[in-house]
Amino acid sequence: MADYSLETSWRPVEGSFGRLTFTLHNLSAEPLSGFSLAYTSETRVADKHVCDGASLKRQVAHFHEFLPSEQLTVPPGGRWRFTVEGLSREPKHVTAGVKSAYLTLADGRHLPVDFGDLMLEGRDGGVSPPLLPPGKADEPYALLPWPLALGLKAGDLPATLYPAERTRPDAIEALSQVLSLYQRLYPVEDAPFSLRAVEGGRRIRFVAESSIAAFAYELRFTAHEIVLSSADEAGRRYGLISLAQLLHGARADGERFKFPNFGTIADQPRYDWRGCHLDVSRQFYPVADILRLIDILAWNKLNIFHWHLTDDEAWRLEIKAYPALTEIGARRGPDEVLVPQLGDGAETRAGHYTQDDIRRIVAHAASLGVEVVPEIDIPGHSTATLLSLPELADGQEAPDSYRAVQGYPNNALNPAVEFTYEFLGKVFDEIVALFPSEYLHIGGDEVAEGAWLSSPLCQALMKREKLAGTAELQSYFLKRIKAMLSERGRKLAGWNEVSHGGGIDPDGTLLMAWEKPAVGIELAQQGYDVVMTPGQAYYLDMAQAEAWAEPGAAWAGYSPPEHSYTYEAEGELPEALQEKMRGIQACIWTENFISRAYFNRLVFPRLPAVAEAAWTPSGRKDWDRFAAIVRMWPML
Ligand code: ACM
Repeated sequence: MADYSLETSWRPVEGSFGRLTFTLHNLSAEPLSGFSLAYTSETRVADKHVCDGASLKRQVAHFHEFLPSEQLTVPPGGRWRFTVEGLSREPKHVTAGVKSAYLTLADGRHLPVDFGDLMLEGRDGGVSPPLLPPGKADEPYALLPWPLALGLKAGDLPATLYPAERTRPDAIEALSQVLSLYQRLYPVEDAPFSLRAVEGGRRIRFVAESSIAAFAYELRFTAHEIVLSSADEAGRRYGLISLAQLLHGARADGERFKFPNFGTIADQPRYDWRGCHLDVSRQFYPVADILRLIDILAWNKLNIFHWHLTDDEAWRLEIKAYPALTEIGARRGPDEVLVPQLGDGAETRAGHYTQDDIRRIVAHAASLGVEVVPEIDIPGHSTATLLSLPELADGQEAPDSYRAVQGYPNNALNPAVEFTYEFLGKVFDEIVALFPSEYLHIGGDEVAEGAWLSSPLCQALMKREKLAGTAELQSYFLKRIKAMLSERGRKLAGWNEVSHGGGIDPDGTLLMAWEKPAVGIELAQQGYDVVMTPGQAYYLDMAQAEAWAEPGAAWAGYSPPEHSYTYEAEGELPEALQEKMRGIQACIWTENFISRAYFNRLVFPRLPAVAEAAWTPSGRKDWDRFAAIVRMWPML
């Protein structure tokens, strides 16, 4: 427990986004004086605000530092209170308040401050409904995602499953990999497979069957053996995962779930892009967490891990040509170049992935059929990059001449600075050596309106190239980036704003439609390949109900697990554009995830819900069945 504690409450006020009240309690035995209070909060104080009892000394996006408005001494057991009206938006949930806090004393020391959820005053916060019903499985089989076709009869539970005699080594290796996956996810459960024949077990016979589609598999069950047929490694792996799931369910909840001893499963995925994104900039996740998340993706038959490695808040990928990116850009703290954000308190927090880490993670994912698609978010969302390598900026650009929606000033790489391209060329060289993926994701989202217009270099570029404004400058920049990726044999993936200002050549370009579902259809009409990542359904940081007590973000509304599950991202996509629709993806933005508990509370069960929506045809989705099965599924 810290010696100081900060309580924050919010009260609605007619005609504004309401008023925050902060109360700092001095729990120490010493009087407190000559200090400032810093905290991080996504409910930012607006430029125009009224503050009673304090003054805002400094603000950088979510970082705020306040000074008491007069010489103040808070005695032991005493408190200091101040209020602020004039906020960037209206808070909707308990998590919209303080995410970290600390004091800075006159001698420069930083002291930790405890804090709690944002309390609501003056109105009723509503009640959270249950997020998951008890569930009901008409067919007693624990398969998630649910297969395309299935006709089974339940039988006795085999002790284990093992490869038939004369199984080829590559099939034994595949079985052994799924066995290891299971043991990592469920370390205390009985193993579903054995590598040798076991009394009371059932044998699996592997058949290579070229008439089966790519990624598809068939399972035929009898009382004495199981035949697993597939044309490729991926199909075989999915079949093995299904067997492990069936056995897991029958053991974990034998009342509801059985193992089949007769019949068939014929299965293949609905979409070939079944993704999950993770933002490791706002919060850092150590290698072990990334490996486990990839295990969870594989268990849910997701096949793309979209790794959001850079953002305003940090650059997390070791680049040998520019060590400053991680030496400066992956550290946040009171005395660092990057100030504390989103959960950072009195102590510096740092974290990045070395190139050895990356190789290990990419290899682990590949062994489970998961492709890692790295994202370097450019040209916007680049505060950490620009603070690490100040020579990337146009030195003549007016400071704070534009601000991103998250509040960061001048946070976009400058398309008129030639070093931008030299820098990115070297970064791409190292990235392509690390990541074998077909696509590199370059972000392209949320460049602020008016960005670069105060840069003399951009003004000259606009004149020379006849570019009308920010969006056309961005299009100029992204065309060059696409060419740089093509030179390196890679395709460009980005967020939907890549199409702005004239966009780029749609051929071989994949865009993620996040802003609203209709955007995805427009992009497909323009010729882009599309992955649907609508914030309203697949952003797993959104709160899951309207109630104040429900944690999470609110800018895209709220998204109960049932909504993420039943949502059909294709919307009114015309038949002729079907081939442009590559798939769907969950996105894990981590501003709100200041603890493992919050991560698991928001990501599950919505991640498996999106996984089933990505695999299972809409007509075969069943929310009650999903609810019955998903409670047995792993979390981080
Ligand atoms: C995004 O949510 N800015 C892609």
